[in-house]
Amino acid sequence: MIPESYIQELLHRVDVVDLIDGYVPLKKAGANYAACCPFHNEKTPSFTVSPSKQFYHCFGCGAHGTAIGFLMEYAGLGFIDAIRELSNRTGLPMPEEEQRPRTGGPRIASLTETMARAARYYYEQLKRSAKAIDYLKGRGVSGEIAQKFGIGYAPDGWQNLEAVFPDYAATELQAAGLVIRNEQGRLYDRFRDRVMFPIINQKGEVIAFGGRVLGEGEPKYLNSPETPLFEKGREVFGLPQARAALREKNTAIVVEGYMDVVALAQHGIGNALATLGTATTATHVQKLLRQVDRIVYCFDGDNAGRKAAWRALENSLEALPEQKSIGFVFLPQGEDPDSFVRTRGTAAFERLIAEATPLSDYLLRELAAQCDLTSAEGKARLVADAKPLLGRLQSPLLRLQLVKRLAEASGFAQTEVERLCELRSFTPPAPARAPRRAPSLLRPLLRLLLQKPALAQRLPLAALPDGTVEGRAVRRLCELIHAAGEPPPPYAALIERLRGEGEEIETSLRDAAAELMQHPYAEEDIDAEFDGALARLAEAEHKRSFAALQEKVQKLGVSGLSGEEKRQYLQALTQHGKFG
Ligand code: UTP
Ligand code: MN
Repeated sequence: MIPESYIQELLHRVDVVDLIDGYVPLKKAGANYAACCPFHNEKTPSFTVSPSKQFYHCFGCGAHGTAIGFLMEYAGLGFIDAIRELSNRTGLPMPEEEQRPRTGGPRIASLTETMARAARYYYEQLKRSAKAIDYLKGRGVSGEIAQKFGIGYAPDGWQNLEAVFPDYAATELQAAGLVIRNEQGRLYDRFRDRVMFPIINQKGEVIAFGGRVLGEGEPKYLNSPETPLFEKGREVFGLPQARAALREKNTAIVVEGYMDVVALAQHGIGNALATLGTATTATHVQKLLRQVDRIVYCFDGDNAGRKAAWRALENSLEALPEQKSIGFVFLPQGEDPDSFVRTRGTAAFERLIAEATPLSDYLLRELAAQCDLTSAEGKARLVADAKPLLGRLQSPLLRLQLVKRLAEASGFAQTEVERLCELRSFTPPAPARAPRRAPSLLRPLLRLLLQKPALAQRLPLAALPDGTVEGRAVRRLCELIHAAGEPPPPYAALIERLRGEGEEIETSLRDAAAELMQHPYAEEDIDAEFDGALARLAEAEHKRSFAALQEKVQKLGVSGLSGEEKRQYLQALTQHGKFG
């Protein structure tokens, strides 16, 4: 565990505007800074960074967070790594036990530097190798595209990297997966006589390599092992190169191979990415859907490709929000995107992408192919097979669509399908019995507390209604502020403190903070606003209890009230002027 005090200190030292500006150039916009959102595709800037409250918020897609959150979302770092990165930037040393990566190896920064150096070396070597250049030319790769992807060549020989790294035995080289120690203790280069594809993360750092034999040989591709820099299930090949095209097309094409990405780019299709010899994971999908609204999987036209497509479908379900779509392209048998685009051209490939099979069609088609839909058993089986898949879908709308189509295909009624799949029914929830308290009364309180946490001291917690999310959010916020003591914690520290506590409260706070970003209270008005908000809250509470008493009187008569209730009722009636 990283102590909270350290996180606060870190957030205090780092400037979220500086940090984000290093990745996404920001423009001053009033009291805030703005840019086109790096997490979704847009033409007018709705991504806003608050220098005073040290957080970012996108009014388009809802992305929201602190400096830590930004590194996690944008650079795909884990929480600890994001902290480590900020620690490096600010020079605020991390608390002892967290300094080193879990494996106890060298620091991340030195691994990154090692990889960068190796990549430069391989890149230089390509220019000197006629056979590697010939190989790439033979595959239709131009110098320009080779440069764009930083393609290199690891020459033949066992210890070439000795010339690049004076300390060939340094632990960094082994930890980075560039050098291997054999059983006799001898060190040798992992990559020899291979065309080198650097895998570059969103920050532009080389984190791994894939090396292809020139021609035939086993393994065809040799990849970096997983290292502290490189976790296969999170990374894709081609992301930094694709960035502009992803924005422009608002679609990510996911393919299987390095050469598929490169060949598509060579043919003017820049928005392709490859998973790295692993199945597409939910993390991949999440990462990509932050940048585009649509993913199209285009895998090889063989059995392995079809299997990969189904895995991709399974792993996409849980990561698929409303408004985003996923399509599947099935290439002719024996083709991969590389061969297809080279033989049939750009337009034909783009047509395939445009006409991709929607996820729901593919899902139903595959399931239906396994069942004999002419028999009752077959129809029941269709629904049973769909059950685990529907369960993974997070998006209620998509689920509803699929349920409808399953009902059509199986002949069951929609409610039957829902029952068989143990889904919540989609009928809208009955209005809550207790009269809903207007959230608009608590929202200003939330905003006021966020702008001036010290107000928490003046808030009578007992007067807060508990029945709404916002009521709970105000309560939790006050607890945190009380617990922190003096000085009250700034917003960024508060939301880091709430990380992982649950969506509900975080969401209310985010919304309130975002509103504040656009319409902050003037300093001199805050106290009066706060008093007003409290008064309105008390007034509403008063009305609510009067309405409850009135209802009771209507049902039971005044004699149905307790002594205390009678007193309240009379007092309220007097106040409401009924006897006046
Ligand atoms: P493929 O075998 O489909 O190769 O592997 P490819 O992409 O068509 O490669 P070329 O066109 O012959 O050069 C697809 C992907 O699977 C991983 C690589 O990421 C590769 O791009 N792979 C494949 C490996 O990691 N190791 C291998 O030995 C083979
Ligand atoms: Mn290929």
